Amino acid sequence: MEKVIDGKKLNIPEHVAIIMDGNGRWAKKRLMPRNFGHKQGAKVLEQICEDADTLGIKYLTVYAFSTENWKRSVEEVTGIMNLLRDYLVNCIERASKNNMRVRVIGDRTALDKDIVEKIEELEKATSVYDGLNFTIALNYGGRDEIRRGVTRLVEDIRSGKVDEPITEAMISSYLDTSDIPDPDLLIRTSGELRLSNYLIWQLAYTEFYFTDCLWPDFDMEELKKAVFYYNDRDRRYGGV
Ligand code: IPE
Ligand code: IPE
Ligand code: MG
Repeated sequence: MEKVIDGKKLNIPEHVAIIMDGNGRWAKKRLMPRNFGHKQGAKVLEQICEDADTLGIKYLTVYAFSTENWKRSVEEVTGIMNLLRDYLVNCIERASKNNMRVRVIGDRTALDKDIVEKIEELEKATSVYDGLNFTIALNYGGRDEIRRGVTRLVEDIRSGKVDEPITEAMISSYLDTSDIPDPDLLIRTSGELRLSNYLIWQLAYTEFYFTDCLWPDFDMEELKKAVFYYNDRDRRYGGV
């Protein structure tokens, strides 16, 4: 989609994926506990959903908690899960205001039952909206997602539901992201230059934008910078 932003005609990425990193460092700089950073990070995310929609982005997928983040202290993990509880409940109201459809990807089986119920409620309540498609990656790991998908695919082949040979499209259709397109632009905040197991299959041809900005400081101006950067890229997909 093309749109004029700040006087420039821009090609808006249809799907933006974000690794929201740097909450802990942001809090530390303020001599505050890490969970203070997560709280501010959650607030920023609410605003970024609106900003993404304003810019004309159709899909926004954010990394909220990885399959590796359980390694953190009990205090931090409990704090994040409690924050999540509030977030999921408030999200229903925000979504209805903003016409936003919400999905959650990742392995739910390790999450507390009340959180799973809140996720199901949120997904069901927002499935009627056709504005921004907002996806939250929760207890998500790219390798784990492929492992779970391949496990189901093998079961379906064995039971005769699916025929070999296995195609790339088939694998994509067994991933958590089966009903959303691959990301056009990936943003990672806080200066780390790695994927940390995020959407490793889906990011094969995505443009990467890294910024030193810590997630709790991220805003519309930062989002626009990423979209400007995206516009300077020449996506060749292996061609010339
Ligand atoms: C990202 O911020 C949020 C989660 C991983 C849950 P971090 O908590 O990783 O912040 P830093 O990287 O320690 O600053
Ligand atoms: C990635 O950030 C996970 C999320 C943002 C949820 P991490 O802070 O966990 O990643 P590493 O440990 O720096 O690779
Ligand atoms: Mg981090």
